[in-house]
Amino acid sequence: MKINGQHYRTIWLAQDGWRVVVIDQTRLPFRFETVALGSAEQAADAIRSMVVRGAPLIGATAAYGVALAMRADASGAALEAALALLGGTRPTAVNLRWALERMRRVLAALPAERRSEAAYAEAAAICDEDVALCRAIGEHGLPLIREIATRKPAGQPVNILTHCNAGWIATVDWGTALAPIYLAHDAGIPVHVWVDETRPRNQGAALTAYELGAHGVPHTVITDNAGGHLMQRGAVDMVIVGTDRTTANGDVANKIGTYLKALAAHDNGVPFYVALPSPTIDWSIRDGLAEIPIEERAAREVTHLSGLAEDGEVRPFRVVAPGSGAANPAFDVTPARLVTGPVTERGVCAASAAGLAHLFPDLANRA
Ligand code: MRU
Repeated sequence: MKINGQHYRTIWLAQDGWRVVVIDQTRLPFRFETVALGSAEQAADAIRSMVVRGAPLIGATAAYGVALAMRADASGAALEAALALLGGTRPTAVNLRWALERMRRVLAALPAERRSEAAYAEAAAICDEDVALCRAIGEHGLPLIREIATRKPAGQPVNILTHCNAGWIATVDWGTALAPIYLAHDAGIPVHVWVDETRPRNQGAALTAYELGAHGVPHTVITDNAGGHLMQRGAVDMVIVGTDRTTANGDVANKIGTYLKALAAHDNGVPFYVALPSPTIDWSIRDGLAEIPIEERAAREVTHLSGLAEDGEVRPFRVVAPGSGAANPAFDVTPARLVTGPVTERGVCAASAAGLAHLFPDLANRA
């Protein structure tokens, strides 16, 4: 993604060749600041505090966290400690476990003196693969947008609703749900994105709006409660969201509020697509509601909003009545029956065990 004319991935190595640089997402969209991570502990803190977020980027940061740990101490005990530390940061996005298991598989088979270099190489491979997966999702999602465009009156944009941030900022580059939108825009198809603000942390209003704006994609931020109303009035042609974990039968965990959008889409005959890279599929489970762990985050994220104060500082503001408690489940599960189709790097399929296994026989059969 280009920011101020310069191409950025969301994670890269510092000039010293070993520290890991990320964009501080808690400061966006008001400040573009980077942070250099120098230890597994710092990588874990960055994930926990959502300096980095989004399922694919969490996985990539954790992989580099292991590399940082191996640089400091490449013993088997240090490897296990780093995997446990990083694995305990956020429970819902399965990309985290996927990346850490991949790091363990590669590193545990090597003698200690080769682990540091191999860990950096594997983390870099995970990042490069993520870029390719996202780009492929974009290419498979593009025809869905193009097909709707052919049915619209000339000059009318395809109206696409998205929730949370499943764009460049949530991945290493391109994004998942936003990749087809970027490719459609670049191909000259008129698109307009309804951006759910996505309380409590406002990833839509802050991050999705920021990156769509940087790419020149027309968009409008709406409150989380507006989507159903817009769908009833025919103002939404399709919904596309990301996912943090999708079960082998196509149940989708994504940012809290996704389920309500899927219900509204279903009621109004609006197609509801889920951009799904294969590392986000948890082949070991089939019942999303019963088996996907849902992260419960701090009540303070509900009671306080972070925003730009009139003096130009980025600050938290209390918005809930003093003394009232708040609950903060961070994700919900959309049952497969409400999903029109997962858009994967290998194509679009039915949201079902058979549909996913047909596209990924190699992965489904290994589980
Ligand atoms: O809590 P977050 O901001 O990490 O949640 C992110 C999402 O819900 C995204 O939709 C998901 O990770 C997919 S990102 C390509």
